Amino acid sequence: MLSTIVVGGFFGDEGKGKIIAYLAKHDKPEVVARGGVGPNAGHTVEIEGKKYALRMVPSGFVHESARLLIGAGVLVDPRVFKREVSSFGLKGRVGVDWRCAIIEEKHIEEDRKDAYLKGKIGSTGSGCGPANAARALRKVKQAKDEKELEEFLCDVPLEINEALDRGKGVLVEGTQGFGISLLYGTYPFVTSKDTTASQMAADVGIGPTRIDDVVVVFKSFPTRVGEGPFETQMEEEKAAELHIEEYGTVTGRKRRIGMWDAKMAAYSAMINGATMVALSGVDRLDPSCRGVREYEELSKEVKDFVAKVEHDTQVPVKLISTGPEVSEIVDLRVEKIEGR
Ligand code: IMP
Ligand code: MG
Repeated sequence: MLSTIVVGGFFGDEGKGKIIAYLAKHDKPEVVARGGVGPNAGHTVEIEGKKYALRMVPSGFVHESARLLIGAGVLVDPRVFKREVSSFGLKGRVGVDWRCAIIEEKHIEEDRKDAYLKGKIGSTGSGCGPANAARALRKVKQAKDEKELEEFLCDVPLEINEALDRGKGVLVEGTQGFGISLLYGTYPFVTSKDTTASQMAADVGIGPTRIDDVVVVFKSFPTRVGEGPFETQMEEEKAAELHIEEYGTVTGRKRRIGMWDAKMAAYSAMINGATMVALSGVDRLDPSCRGVREYEELSKEVKDFVAKVEHDTQVPVKLISTGPEVSEIVDLRVEKIEGR
């Protein structure tokens, strides 16, 4: 289990940030590399009484000795990136691939005033769609052309593949979720790029034959922000009865809440090539399970749900998140990797 990719199985915001932070803390990979679209993603990490919201740097930063990388496929907004580097004190351990594409002010303006992107699609307004369009047209700036990023430039695929050659662990952080993939999601209500595990591997420069594990994160009650179809969406009153209320990390918009979608979960696990499932939010199914760390202590209701998820996806559930804090997790992986 040297190289692991973590991706979202539903519409994003499944709790990837927390799962990645846990895997980084526990498995101690030498490198944590971020793939995905760009600063439209917001990952939340709660650890040791502090809460972090990250849009550019990898959530694995909580493992203090890890090298942190941003893969060539990712769009970088230098302002957001530098703000995070300085507020989380990451200087000296974070690298940006020299080929990353740069989000400029004009991309953000276009994303925010375009009636189609902002109005119909419900984009996050972070400039990602217009920057990826410019990239496809070969009119975008690269990180190597950005003075502000000079000290961070590196070759991400080289660093990652060399770490693997030396037998070190590499954790790849995906962003967004399966349902908003440009290729497999609910087009046109999607983000500007594929969001599956293969894309994350390409983003950071790992060949498909070098991936050992793909962790697909599913939320017990999926959510969706922005526009677009959501087959299992519940009425607001029902969500209120279940005490579920969520707001987007990047935009602050209220998230739509839904029921477990067995069909989507199966399809998503298939295309992602999942080797294990991480299930989040089981404390919403049964609040008495909040913070539980041993499988035996979970209630029958939650155990039955875990069995249903395994049945639906045909993939073993190996991580069960019982609350937002990084330590609130049941880890069922057989061979736990210690002290790497
Ligand atoms: P864009 O990626 O900002 O262009 O937004 C396109 C669609 O994807 C909108 O519905 C957004 O709300 C959604 N989206 C983009 N990134 C994320 C994410 O990280 N989590 C959840 N939804 C997202
Ligand atoms: Mg998010």
